[in-house]
Formats: sequence, structure tokens, C-alpha cells
Amino acid sequence: MKSSFIHYKQGRLHIEDVSAETLAERFDTPLYVYSRGAIEAAFTSYQKAFTEIPHLICYSLKANSNLGVAATLARLGCGADIVSGGELRRALLAGFSAGHIIFSGVGKTKDELALAIQKNIRMINVESEEELRALNEVATSLKRPAPFSLRVNPDVRAGGHPHISTGTPKNKFGVYHKDIFPLYQWARKQPYLRPVGIQAHIGSQITKVAPYKRALAVLLDLVQRLETIGCGIEILDLGGGLGVDYHGDNPQTPDDLAKLILPQVKGRGLQLFLEPGRSIIAQAGVLVTKVLYRKGAGGKQFVIVDAAMNDLARPALYDAYHEVIEARPRTGKKVKLDIVGPVCESGDYLARERTMPLPKQGDVLAVLTAGAYGFSMSSQYNSRRRAAEVLVHGKTADLVRERESYDDLLKGESIPESLR
Ligand code: LLP
Repeated sequence: MKSSFIHYKQGRLHIEDVSAETLAERFDTPLYVYSRGAIEAAFTSYQKAFTEIPHLICYSLKANSNLGVAATLARLGCGADIVSGGELRRALLAGFSAGHIIFSGVGKTKDELALAIQKNIRMINVESEEELRALNEVATSLKRPAPFSLRVNPDVRAGGHPHISTGTPKNKFGVYHKDIFPLYQWARKQPYLRPVGIQAHIGSQITKVAPYKRALAVLLDLVQRLETIGCGIEILDLGGGLGVDYHGDNPQTPDDLAKLILPQVKGRGLQLFLEPGRSIIAQAGVLVTKVLYRKGAGGKQFVIVDAAMNDLARPALYDAYHEVIEARPRTGKKVKLDIVGPVCESGDYLARERTMPLPKQGDVLAVLTAGAYGFSMSSQYNSRRRAAEVLVHGKTADLVRERESYDDLLKGESIPESLR
């Protein structure tokens, strides 16, 4: 098992001390379940790794922005990396202090920038010259300081899939590293802009820390050169991206990352920020689902379950591998099978060509490593209600998001008078 918090006890799959079957019975399926202990352990591994230097771990809310998950991290002193006004509201509601919130994204609107300035967040990661000018206009009209960093595109290749690699000029992110100086110089002359940091985020599901070394070298060189033009930087933000083990990925750890970063950053008077998402929450979460039907023809065996691509888009979107296990393992002959959902698309699958005993109707299965980019990317496609979410702590299971109702699916829609 990939997480000691998600384990078999007396032949039954448990999330901490609650069995998956009990949760399926009590809350119905499909159901996202998170282990609070696993979330806390993942955050603590970052905290411990970086104790030697001033740092702030800003959990990237986009991986999973559930209020219960976010509050678990906020109360440990974690910061938040947000990408929208919606996430800003969530972060504040979850209890993150404004001084621990940073704001990334290539397309922040002026309204979102204004909200960020008014709430006094720690840093806005600006991704283009035009955004910097917009930030200046907003800060000037509010007569409030805007602390910002430039997100640098360091031209470093990293990440597990072309869709999630971000650090090269082919990607839409950041300002090309050679173009940042005139922007900092201009910003220094603006009364309300405060250049406090420099940032890079090179990709996601990065399993080897070597690319961080290259990005760090680019950033440190820029920090030094900015100093020579009188632009001192306090915050060095290396983004998120550390990978997790979906299927033999064997990722390097926060400790490995720290070994690489600490000698370079220690004693430089910089505060290190990191923005991990996946590596905090992926392994703390499972998607619990029930078998509806089985069918097979022409040598192909399908198991149709009640969770679908609208609940977990990663297999359909990235051909991602998620291990699927039984809540109550069956013995018997193993067969090759595909686990698919009820959505009307051939791409709607959770697992392909897996070898396991054929489950029976009503059996409970768990899709592992589903805590990150699972619920947060879910949709209502096929007018399916989005799943419920539960946070488990020891023997306690709290519903942290109700299953959507059929009314929720219709919220805000109407039929024009002329059609009635
Ligand atoms: N910071 C920034 C600016 C980001 O864009 C991201 C992720 C993170 C931090 C957090 O990265 P992480 O530590 O989670 O790798 N939906 C895709 C992943 C997209 C990542 C987007 N940006 C997936 O399911 O694999």
C-alpha cells in the first residue's frame, strides 16, 4: 500500500480506522475519502526537510480545494498558493492567514487583483508585462501597496506529461528569464508596486529533483543580478511539482529536494517558498466506487462502476494510471479487465487491462492516489451529480462536502419565456 493511512486491516480496506465498505454504506458512492493523518504527515515531511532555512510551504489549492482539506493544512501553519478569486475566498474561509497566501496564474482579472490587494495577501506572482501594468493600475487606484514577484520562465524542461510541463518558452507561463530586468526596474519606480520575490514553477509530477537544480541556478543568478541594480529580493519561490508514486514512479522526496536547495539558499537572507499540491494530497485520497455491472465479449471483460471520468478525469485526460483495489479482496482466478464508468464516451475509463479476480455486482473498489486533481477537476458531464467528500480522522469520518442534489445540477438555469 502506498500510504500507511490507507491499509488493509483484517482483510478489509481501511482509511485510518474506518473501513471503505462502511464509508460506502454510510455516504453512498462514488465517494472521495481523505485521510487527515496522511495530509498532516505529507505537510510535516516538507516542514522537517526545510527547518534549517526560513521558509513557507504554500499548499497549492488547485490540487484539492475542499474546505476540510484546506483547514487541515491551515491549522498547521501552512500557506496557500491560489489561482483565482474563488480560491482566495476558499483559502480565507479555511483559515489561511492572508500573509500566508500567494496568487499565481496567467490570467488574473483586475477584480481578482483588487481583491488580493484589499485582502493584503503576501505576494502576487505576476506572469506578464501587461499583468504587471494592470496590477499597477489597480494598486494605484486603491492607493494600496501590491507586493509581487515575477514568475520567471527559466527554460527548464520537467514534468510527467506535455500538458503539465510549464517551464519552457513553448508554455504560456511566466516571463522569459532574459526579459525580467526592465520589468523590475520599471516596477521599482511605481509608488504602489513592491517587488518582493521571484518565482518559477517548472512542471508537475516531477519525479527527479535535477530540474529544480537548473531552475534554482537561473533564479539565484537573477537574484544576484537584481541586487546589483538595487532591487533586493526577499522571497525565492521555487513553485510546486514534486511527483508521487502512481505506478512505480519512484519519486524523490522533500528531503531530496531540501538536500539540493539548502546549501544554495542558506545564509543568503532569502525566504524560500514552495507550492506543493500533488505531493501533499494525492496519496491521502481514494475514490470509493461500487460495481454496477459486468459484461464481456470477444475476449474483453468490462467492469462498470458508478464512478466515471466526470469524477476522476485524469485517466481520460492524461492516460494516467491509478491503481484500483478491492475493499474486500476476493480469491480465485484472476482475469484481465477494464474498469469503466457510466459516461457515454469510450474514453471514460478508470483502469485498463488490469489483472484481478472478477469483482461481483455491489463490490466496493477504491481508486488510489486520487486525492490530487480528482474532485477539483470533476464536472457534471452527462448531468451527473458531483461526488461527496469525506475526511477521516482516526475512527471519525466527517462529511466535508455533500453529494450534489438534482436541484444543484439545474441551479441558475431557466427556460426563456418564449419557449414556455
Ligand atoms: N504552482 C503553480 C503555479 C502551479 O501551476 C501548480 C500546478 C502547482 C504550484 C502545484 O503543482 P503540483 O505540486 O501539484 O505538481 N491536472 C494535472 C496537474 C496540473 C498542475 C497544474 N499546476 C494532473 O492531474 O496531473
